[in-house]
Amino acid sequence: MNETVSNKQHHPAASRGSFSGRIGYVLAVAGSAVGLGNIWRFPYLAAKYGGGMFLLVYLILMLTFGYVLIISETALGRMTGKSPVGAFQTFGKGLPFRFGGWVNAVIPMLIVPYYCVIGGWVTKYLFEYVKGNTVQLAEDGYFTSFIASSVRVELWFVLFSLMVFLVIVAGVKQGVERVSKVMMPMLVVLAIFVAIYSITRPGAVGGIRYFLIPNLDHFSWMTVVAAMGQMFYSLSIAMGILYTYGSYISKDVDIEKSTTQVEIFDTAIAMLAGLMIIPAVFAFSGGNPETLQAGPSLMFITLPKVFASMGMGTFAGVLFFLLVLFAALTSAISLMETSVSTITDELHWDRRKASFLMAAVMLVVGSGSALGFGVLDFVSILGMSILDFFDFLTNSIMMPLAALSTCLLIIRVVGFGAIEKEVECSSAFRRKKVYVFFMKYLAPVCIGIILISSIANVMGWISL
Ligand code: TRP
Repeated sequence: MNETVSNKQHHPAASRGSFSGRIGYVLAVAGSAVGLGNIWRFPYLAAKYGGGMFLLVYLILMLTFGYVLIISETALGRMTGKSPVGAFQTFGKGLPFRFGGWVNAVIPMLIVPYYCVIGGWVTKYLFEYVKGNTVQLAEDGYFTSFIASSVRVELWFVLFSLMVFLVIVAGVKQGVERVSKVMMPMLVVLAIFVAIYSITRPGAVGGIRYFLIPNLDHFSWMTVVAAMGQMFYSLSIAMGILYTYGSYISKDVDIEKSTTQVEIFDTAIAMLAGLMIIPAVFAFSGGNPETLQAGPSLMFITLPKVFASMGMGTFAGVLFFLLVLFAALTSAISLMETSVSTITDELHWDRRKASFLMAAVMLVVGSGSALGFGVLDFVSILGMSILDFFDFLTNSIMMPLAALSTCLLIIRVVGFGAIEKEVECSSAFRRKKVYVFFMKYLAPVCIGIILISSIANVMGWISL
């Protein structure tokens, strides 16, 4: 680790001693990338926005925009040795630079509160499986009545947030990460089993087809908007995280190769989750369009039905929700850690104070999301529940803006030469032409169009 890095002991990656190696880097990035985004968010978006069509668009976006952005953010982080706010200011002091850095840095602060609400749902389900309530959990309407019961949802949300907060304040993050290195492969193995079980249920074939075979009739512009938001979210891009991670790697880490590995790993897990959940919708509710549209609740309505129908379902339920809880915890911890570091670095607050500020933000914003299906369900922002609104605001508005800022920084200020030089320190950069082509001609324009259309859509100016 170099000079600029050593004074930032609080950053997510800094505590990983062997971060200079490529494998360490890939594991760290993959660990933060794999989380609720893959297991909870991806399947419900795929179910809602066109199945195979969504998958196809997602894969194309990931291999193009995703690839270009991961490389860019990591290279800029390594080049400057700084997190996003500092990295942008290395190149200029004006307002656009401040905006570019901060829009990246604020996103994790807005994601972590509602992420913890979902984490709370997961914790609650784990608790119920431990108690053996496998059959009750699978009953129709269980989930809906749970999220409408404001007090219980709030308590589970607070419990999950407390775990995250304590890990950060007590500094036992490394312990959690060590455990999660064992949990992650276990999650993959269990997910494979559950997916095989799901796809072999009678009636599941319709679901496999729906999820894997693109059908043009299922295409809508919202497919593209949703797939892009998901791609950012799942790969943890367009929110400054990879600048920070990039700032910790040494010049001999092959950025191109590690990018490819992270993409493959993250996508494989998302697809596995899709195969666990979507065929089950067809097998257990006959492909009911309403279930397909269930949105954030999809995983919580579908999987209990799968577990209730199989032998050792309670055991599978306990194990599954325990593993998902860990994946969610590591992601939430790294989101919170990044937010705390930004505050300590940029506002020069001490770490305790910054942690408490973040805890307050989490409590206020998160409670809104937690109660949005219960006592606050009369609140509708632009037609969305509070949780959906924060999800939309971060994923469909702020992340495209953050991605656009990175593109413009490279195109107008840093220059392709500097990025190429940075990447080529340690990698052959085989896809250099693709990189430059996308970055120069496609990325800014496409991201801009998608951003404008998603704003126009929620404002009701157009209907997608
Ligand atoms: N990618 C994570 C997931 O799939 C969520 C996430 C987004 C994240 N940004 C992050 C996690 C930053 C850690 C750090 O669940």
